[in-house]
Amino acid sequence: MTHILLTGGAGYIGSHTYLALVQAGYRPVILDDYSNSHPAVLARLQQISGQPVLHARGDVADVALVRGLLEQYQVAAVVHFAAFKAVGESVEQPLKYFDNNITGMLRLMQAMEQAGCRRLVFSSSATVYGDPDSVPITEAFPLRHSSPYGCTKVVCEEMIASMLGANPAWRAGVLRYFNPVGAHASGLIGENPQGVPNNLMPYVAQVAIGRRQHLNIWGDDYPTPDGTGLRDYIHVADLAEGHVAALDTLLRDQRSFTVNLGTGRGHSVLEVVAAFAAASGRPVPYQICPRRPGDIAQCYADPSLARELLGWRASRTLADMCADSWRWQSANPEGYV
Ligand code: UFG
Repeated sequence: MTHILLTGGAGYIGSHTYLALVQAGYRPVILDDYSNSHPAVLARLQQISGQPVLHARGDVADVALVRGLLEQYQVAAVVHFAAFKAVGESVEQPLKYFDNNITGMLRLMQAMEQAGCRRLVFSSSATVYGDPDSVPITEAFPLRHSSPYGCTKVVCEEMIASMLGANPAWRAGVLRYFNPVGAHASGLIGENPQGVPNNLMPYVAQVAIGRRQHLNIWGDDYPTPDGTGLRDYIHVADLAEGHVAALDTLLRDQRSFTVNLGTGRGHSVLEVVAAFAAASGRPVPYQICPRRPGDIAQCYADPSLARELLGWRASRTLADMCADSWRWQSANPEGYV
């Protein structure tokens, strides 16, 4: 059995990746402090996978704990999801983000070095491209963060590059996610935002279920076909399979890579609203508001490098993303309880 440690494995992307890894024959181990996730996910993962879930509660910055887990399970590779991810909050509380995201990465790499586990897959983000000069975005585009959150992703990528340069025994796969949405097809696990959702799809889902009155669309005067923002929404199950392909490649080919994980096409806010209303059979009322500070007009990937290096491509459509998000939302109107 090849054990893989998932830091932040109880979170939205971590929990979906857990299932994709089990399906691919890996034995994942979850480490989570539940600061932005819910322990109820563990029973759901057991229910879907039919196997007990290996897990530990704790902080990724606890070097002794992480080292102990790496040694106990003879972990072959780590997938590092554990991080804070709210752009607006990072502007208000930058130290919270630098501490958790950068210190977490530092301590994790120290524990990995001590345990002799030097295979790492890192959750990066398209946020590292800032406001790109053009679309689609390739991995060769310059990195320019526009928030403390984005800064933490760029710094973590640089920390990884430094380790790769310093010690030839290290290998890493850096995955730059575009906009993950949707849920597992079972409807048992999904995105479970605390408080008012910042992101579009969970907000739309809460409007459709009646938890919120209407969606605020942040601007309809962008230079896009319908004036609303264009993003590369990717089904979280496709993203999870991207992690499996990244681990397969990292453990087989023993080389490092940085790739975009996106679909290669953009959808506008109004397209998402229409697709969600069709999938749910519920109206999604909205009002047009001023632009949200820091937002960009459009952002979508050139996903060809991931296809070339990992043999992976996203296959699920916007209709699939909305249908699965709705199944999760309607079966779990209050999320995990
Ligand atoms: N939007 C609305 N109303 C809302 C929420 C979002 O109109 O209530 C619009 C935004 O203006 C944007 C689009 O929907 O045009 C998508 O917004 P999200 O907040 O869902 O996603 P972002 O693209 O702004 O941000 C996401 C992640 C970040 C990441 C960034 C870049 O949340 O972590 O992609 O990759 F940094």
